[in-house]
Amino acid sequence: MIEIVHLKKSFGEKQVLKDVSLNIPKGKTTCILGGSGSGKSTLIKCLIGLLEATSGQILVDGRDITKIKSEVKLAAVRRRFGYLFQEGALFDSMTVGENVTFGLKYLTDAPSSDYPRIIREKLALVGLKEDVAKLNPSELSGGMKKRVSLARVLAVEPEVILYDEPTTGLDPIMSDIISDLIIELKAKLGVTSVVITHDMHSAFKIADYIAFLYEGNILLYGTPQDFRNTDNPYVKQFVTGSSKGPIHMKLRAE
Ligand SMILES: Nc1ncnc2c1ncn2[C@@H]1O[C@H](COP(=O)(O)OP(=O)(O)OP(=O)(O)O)[C@@H](O)[C@H]1O
Ligand SMILES: [Mg+2]
Repeated sequence: MIEIVHLKKSFGEKQVLKDVSLNIPKGKTTCILGGSGSGKSTLIKCLIGLLEATSGQILVDGRDITKIKSEVKLAAVRRRFGYLFQEGALFDSMTVGENVTFGLKYLTDAPSSDYPRIIREKLALVGLKEDVAKLNPSELSGGMKKRVSLARVLAVEPEVILYDEPTTGLDPIMSDIISDLIIELKAKLGVTSVVITHDMHSAFKIADYIAFLYEGNILLYGTPQDFRNTDNPYVKQFVTGSSKGPIHMKLRAE
């Protein structure tokens, strides 16, 4: 469904994505793994047109979105993508229900009389009861916030969901619940999912395909089984989470 072809992205002199080619198949879950600063967020932002690629192509259903100049046409492509922000980014001054329906006014023509039904349905999809709609985000746990954010993404019925580190900051059980949810949404709604993650347990569980990004290139692309069996020392070190290996973390003095 999405084809990334020789994508390059630089910020000034700094080449963040050197030559990335990747196919993201429809209705499957593709995980993007990589260390901090390897360019994962940059890649996903190029995908939804939040950042302009330096060169290369991003084909969505065969159409190169890097060539679209009209804001209106770009907005139409973006509408097909839902983006789950890492921090959740709920509006604290609104109730959960208002958060869930926030994008509907701008992105759909659903009448406001439909909102209660939409809130109920989308909260149910993420395993939350209708009563939660009345609460404020400050009254929710981290895991619930994540689920409400996901309900807000689902409200506009995207075809592709981009998850930016959906399990970071959650306890292992809640992380697993979120992983199950990603699997369930794929099965129920047939959505195409792209998941940025550091969480190997989650990646192995949810991924149909995994791409490992290292220093601006994809070092390995394959199934979870390919990643378990790899001899590539860089990928091995990342998968096992070891401090010993060819990947040297730059310690930042801040
Ligand atoms: N708007 C920008 N201007 C300049 N440099 C940027 C910009 N956005 C990202 N970078 C640089 O690009 C590199 C990759 O950043 P990116 O956020 O894509 O990494 P990441 O893989 O998502 O990291 P993390 O796991 O820490 O979220 C970093 O060195 C960052 O400083
Ligand atoms: Mg990032």
